[in-house]
Amino acid sequence: MLLDVKNLSIYYYTLAGTVRAVENVTFGIEKKEWVTFVGESGSGKSTVAHAILNLVPSPGKIVRGEVLFEGRDLLKLTKEEMKNIRGKEISMVFQDPMTSLDPLRKVGDQIVEAMSEHGVDEKEAWKKAKELLKRVNLPEDRLGYYPHQLSGGQRQRISIAIAMAFEPKLLIADEPTTALDVIVQDSIMDLIDKLKEEEGTSIMFVTHDISLAVERSDKIAVMYAGKLMEFGSVDQITENPLHPYTKALLSSVPDLWSEKNIKAIPGYPPDLRTPPTGCRFHPRCPLFRDRASLKGVCDAVEPAFIEYEKGHYVACHTYGGAPNE
Ligand SMILES: Nc1ncnc2c1ncn2[C@@H]1O[C@H](COP(=O)(O)OP(=O)(O)OP(=O)(O)O)[C@@H](O)[C@H]1O
Ligand SMILES: [Mg+2]
Repeated sequence: MLLDVKNLSIYYYTLAGTVRAVENVTFGIEKKEWVTFVGESGSGKSTVAHAILNLVPSPGKIVRGEVLFEGRDLLKLTKEEMKNIRGKEISMVFQDPMTSLDPLRKVGDQIVEAMSEHGVDEKEAWKKAKELLKRVNLPEDRLGYYPHQLSGGQRQRISIAIAMAFEPKLLIADEPTTALDVIVQDSIMDLIDKLKEEEGTSIMFVTHDISLAVERSDKIAVMYAGKLMEFGSVDQITENPLHPYTKALLSSVPDLWSEKNIKAIPGYPPDLRTPPTGCRFHPRCPLFRDRASLKGVCDAVEPAFIEYEKGHYVACHTYGGAPNE
């Protein structure tokens, strides 16, 4: 296992209260595997993604858990040790490329600087920068451009080029295509796929669009209200979804799951300062609503994250020996 995340919990300590944004999340990513995290806005996807590199922004704090990367707990590394991992062994691409690009400096200088920081000499770095641009299908002269002279898709290509500079073992991409049109989105997805195929890079991809997840991923992780509800291969998740929330997500996608009308999921995600007791999904769960036997179970006891079949995990009482099942 390349990345092994265990019992990760992350809270934001705000003036208005403690937001329990991520609770007890456990998953793994193998070498050359593409794992996509899906879930509604606010479900904790970005918080988990940032935690891998110990980059949870203030007032967030990782309160529990381990992030084992090739067996080493990244949360225990010093700042110096982490610098050698970030950008080199693990890279991150954000939704807005301007998060990582400096608007005042030409992209070439920025790519070269990213490499110099990890000890590549300048001449070598310029040569590499040209190669990287070719790999992301941009003409070499773009190295002389400022970020604002490029389109959104081109800027995202630049940030992927920087992320690819050291052939990282893991690329974390947090909604990298959300702001782009469908055609450009597809070409960015192709680029990430190429990185995986050619360099054997593992991908942790974050999106709220489950149809994007299905196309290229090997595995899907479904998050709801800070909890990992289901995890499995794309086939397991799409052909045999277990969690009522996963089923609801899939039926909200046209053509993918059923011929029936697209169904929105009734209700709203909870306030994570006061998450629901028991299963966090129970207030919106159709099974809980319809089955008397689940009362006093789903609303009272937190479901364990169990391995239902090989590699297919779920946190739902209806698969964990709840009454009358
Ligand atoms: N800086 C912050 N301060 C306080 N609460 C935060 C902060 N950042 C995130 N949260 C809360 O943590 C929870 C998880 O947020 P996160 O951004 O990880 O969700 P997400 O799944 O990435 O959502 P989106 O799809 O909108 O990007 C949310 O309830 C959010 O309100
Ligand atoms: Mg997010």
